[in-house]
Amino acid sequence: MTQKGTDVQKAAKILKNGGIVAIPTETVYGLAANAYNDDAIARVFEVKNRPSFDPLIVHSHSIESVTEFITGMDPLLEKLAEKFWPGPITLLLNRKNIIPDLVTSGMNRVAVRLPDHQITINLLKSLDFPLVAPSANPFGYVSPTTANHVISKLGNRIDYVLDGGNCSIGIESTIVGIDDNRPVIYRLGGLDIHAIEEVVGKVEIKPHGSSNPSVPGMLQSHYSPSKKVILGNIEELRKAYSNENYGVIHFSGENVKVLNERVLSPSGNIREAAKNLFSVLRSMDESEVSIILAEPAPGKGLGLAINDRLKRAAT
Ligand code: TXA
Ligand code: MG
Repeated sequence: MTQKGTDVQKAAKILKNGGIVAIPTETVYGLAANAYNDDAIARVFEVKNRPSFDPLIVHSHSIESVTEFITGMDPLLEKLAEKFWPGPITLLLNRKNIIPDLVTSGMNRVAVRLPDHQITINLLKSLDFPLVAPSANPFGYVSPTTANHVISKLGNRIDYVLDGGNCSIGIESTIVGIDDNRPVIYRLGGLDIHAIEEVVGKVEIKPHGSSNPSVPGMLQSHYSPSKKVILGNIEELRKAYSNENYGVIHFSGENVKVLNERVLSPSGNIREAAKNLFSVLRSMDESEVSIILAEPAPGKGLGLAINDRLKRAAT
C-alpha cells in the first residue's frame, strides 16, 4: 500500500524524479506532478482514469513564481490574486510555452492557484517547478478531503501521500476567468461568490457542462458516489422511496441517531457543511444503503457550491 506521512523532503525527491504524490490543500487533496514534465503528467491522467481533454490546475507558492509561466494578468484577476491568494480561488491566465499542451488541453489559458496549506507551501518552495494537481480521486468520483480517502481509492497506484490532516474548506476552488473583459465564474467553489463580487463587482456564472467548450472538464455528472443520489425535500423523498433502503443527508438539524442518516452541520453553518460534504457522501457510499436522499443547502454563498456538487452527484 502507498505510504502516507509528513515528509516534505521525501515528497520533493519523488516529484523531482518524475513521480506522483498526493498533496493536501485547504480545499481537497490533489494528485501532484511536475507541471513541466509530460511523462509525469501523463501518469496523473492514467492513474485518475481522466480523459486528456480535461485540463489541469497548476499550483505555485507565490505570485512572483507564477510569472515564470504566464504572460501577464488582467487587472481584475490581479486584484483577486492579491486579495485571495493563497486561497480557494483558481484564475485562468494566459500561459507561456513552458506549460505543456497536456496541462491545458491545448488551450491558451492555464488554470493557476496558490494553495493555502503550510506543508504544501513548504513543498512548493523546495521545488524549482510548479505542480499540476487535479483532485486525487478516480475521475468522476467524490474528491478526497483526508489522506485516507486518497489511499482508499488510489492507494498502490501513487508514490506517496503527504498527510496534512482534514481539508479545512472541503470543496474545490472557485474558478474565475475573464470573458469579454468581464469576470466569469466557471466553477462555483470554496471561495464565496459574494467575496469575489466585493472585489470586482458583479460576476457572471457560466452554466457549465458539455455545452461550454471553454471549460471541457466541467462535466454534468461528476463528484458522484457509485450509489444513486436523489436531491429534494426529505419528507417527500421518504414517502416516494419508502420501500427502499435509503440513507439521508440532512443539511442541518439535530444530529440524528438513526443509522444511515447524517447531518452536514447541526447548527446550519454553511462552512461546516461544505467541509463535511465529501466525507459524508463517501461514508454513505460505503454503507449498505442502496440510494442516498439529500437535502439541498440554502441557495446562497457557499450553499451554491454545495448544491452544485450535490446536483452533479445526482446526475
Ligand atoms: O481546489 C481545487 O481546485 C483542487 C485542488 C487540488 O487544488 N483541484 C481540482 O482540480 O479541483 P480538478 O482537476 O479536479 O478540477 C479542475 C477543473 C476541471 O474541471 C478543469 O476542467 C478546470 O478546472 N480547468 C483546468 N484548467 C482549465 C483551463 N485552462 N481552462 C478552463 N478550465 C480549466
Ligand atoms: Mg476533480
